[in-house]
Amino acid sequence: MMVAPSILSADFGRLNDEIKAICEAGCDFVHVDVMDGHFVPNMTIGPVVVSAVAKVATKPLDIHLMVENNTFFVELFAPLKPEFISFHIEEEKHPHRLIQKIKSYGIGAAVVLNPHTPPSLVEYLLEDLDMVLLMSVNPGFGGQKFISSVYQKAKKLREMIDARGLKTLIEVDGGVNDTNVKELKSAGVDMVVAGNYVFGSSSYKDAISSLKQ
Ligand code: DX5
Ligand code: ZN
Repeated sequence: MMVAPSILSADFGRLNDEIKAICEAGCDFVHVDVMDGHFVPNMTIGPVVVSAVAKVATKPLDIHLMVENNTFFVELFAPLKPEFISFHIEEEKHPHRLIQKIKSYGIGAAVVLNPHTPPSLVEYLLEDLDMVLLMSVNPGFGGQKFISSVYQKAKKLREMIDARGLKTLIEVDGGVNDTNVKELKSAGVDMVVAGNYVFGSSSYKDAISSLKQ
């Protein structure tokens, strides 16, 4: 299981040290939540802060957009060369076009599904996608309760991906901890995001390795 700690739960007063600490503790990616106060009822960070994060991080960035104007934000963050940019399908009229745009920068393209959004919505996008991110909380805040219907959704998506012989990754985001990670693994999930579980622990290294096993 790959692990991407969400820096939303980090101590922003000590962001440099927090980024260094999770990278040294063995995370695979640094998950960055970008919220615009419109698509979700919260605001976070823009390209100025994220470029500072990118300078310190020794692991690639996984940027999760929770915004209304996806194309504008993709153009804003593409120069930072993240490994992935993911956008919410609920907020995009032309997902296929946006996926091509993200990939044209040499960045992995990912689509995010809210808890109510069926996996069938990505059926005709799958072969162009590097990753599908399934939300296991309603986007907007860290520290929320895990929504367990994501197990079923991940299984369905796994079947869709395998039936087509694709390498598309499945990522799950929200309320992930050392208990539910096991069932996520058996549902065919490749990568988990964890905010509170990692940053709320006394040892980032132990928390990350407990998710990996
Ligand atoms: C929620 C964000 C998540 C969140 C995860 O909108 O996308 O990445 O910060 O935090 P936890 O693991 O605390 O639910
Ligand atoms: Zn996220």
